[in-house]
Amino acid sequence: MQYPMYRPRRLRQSAGIRRLVRETNVRPDDLVMPLFVEEGRDVDVPIEALPGQRRYSVDRLVKRVKEIHAAGVHGVMLFGVPARKDALGTGAFAKEGVVQRAARALKDVSPDLVVIGDVCLCGYTSHGHCGTLDRGQVDNDGTLELLGKVALSQAKAGVDMVAPSDMMDGRVGYIREVLDEEGFEHIPIMSYAAKYASAFYGPFRDAAGSAPREGDRRGYQMDPGNAREALSEVLLDIDEGADIVMVKPALAYLDVVRMVRDEVEHPVAAYNVSGEYAMVKAAAARGWLDERQAMMEMLTSIKRAGADIILTYFAEEAARELG
Ligand code: PBG
Repeated sequence: MQYPMYRPRRLRQSAGIRRLVRETNVRPDDLVMPLFVEEGRDVDVPIEALPGQRRYSVDRLVKRVKEIHAAGVHGVMLFGVPARKDALGTGAFAKEGVVQRAARALKDVSPDLVVIGDVCLCGYTSHGHCGTLDRGQVDNDGTLELLGKVALSQAKAGVDMVAPSDMMDGRVGYIREVLDEEGFEHIPIMSYAAKYASAFYGPFRDAAGSAPREGDRRGYQMDPGNAREALSEVLLDIDEGADIVMVKPALAYLDVVRMVRDEVEHPVAAYNVSGEYAMVKAAAARGWLDERQAMMEMLTSIKRAGADIILTYFAEEAARELG
């Protein structure tokens, strides 16, 4: 049908009609809020590179999460900022580690909240890499054992789901095996399946103090030019037992989100990473764009590309906006 019979503007003339015909709606249920937890008591420090985000000690985190939950966000992802780091990142699987203590405290007060543990070593290693080093190289198979310990310690602490973000080969299968052997066969794995070596993680590394001391992550995270490879990574992780597959970052990789959504039946998550959040915050602070609108447009684009779950530092703000 052609103009003047078909007039697309008929369906754009009021907010009510636009709402009726909107194809994609972001819901608070889709959102997961990443949070940083550190040692100590009464700690509540702003993260400079992530305006509006803070690092909390466990006692403060519990209070904060109650507000986030009340705003309608039902999932949180925990990142630990340990007091001490070492070559093996042992703090990542300590029984009294920050994430383990935080998970126990959160599940105690908010049993309905979905608590997800990020499984990685980079925040806990003195060298800042996501695995152990062997003659300057990240040792893939040697790292698996440690990642298994991290996932198991988090499961024991009560997390509802583990999310390996290290990009070592074979880690999903290894973690699945460890969890199953130890009686945690009910704990799902959300794998950071297609995680790219991205400049958009900059503010996160500031927040978590997890930047590599030397070198970069291009030897394990994906090359930004590759899309087909993302599919191999996703299929590999599904084969190894991943329950949810993630694409990260989200905005610069919406084509990958769409491709994965079209190719697999599993739930697809997309991580709207720190740099993507910080860009909007920084421009809005200068009055260069409307923050609320930019946030909703961004989240809508990620959902429209096919993500079922969006991890975003905007989670609470967006949930409040959506009512
Ligand atoms: C750890 C990890 C990173 C992020 C999540 N898990 C950083 C990295 O790989 O350097 C980034 C999250 C963000 O930028 O918001 N492996």
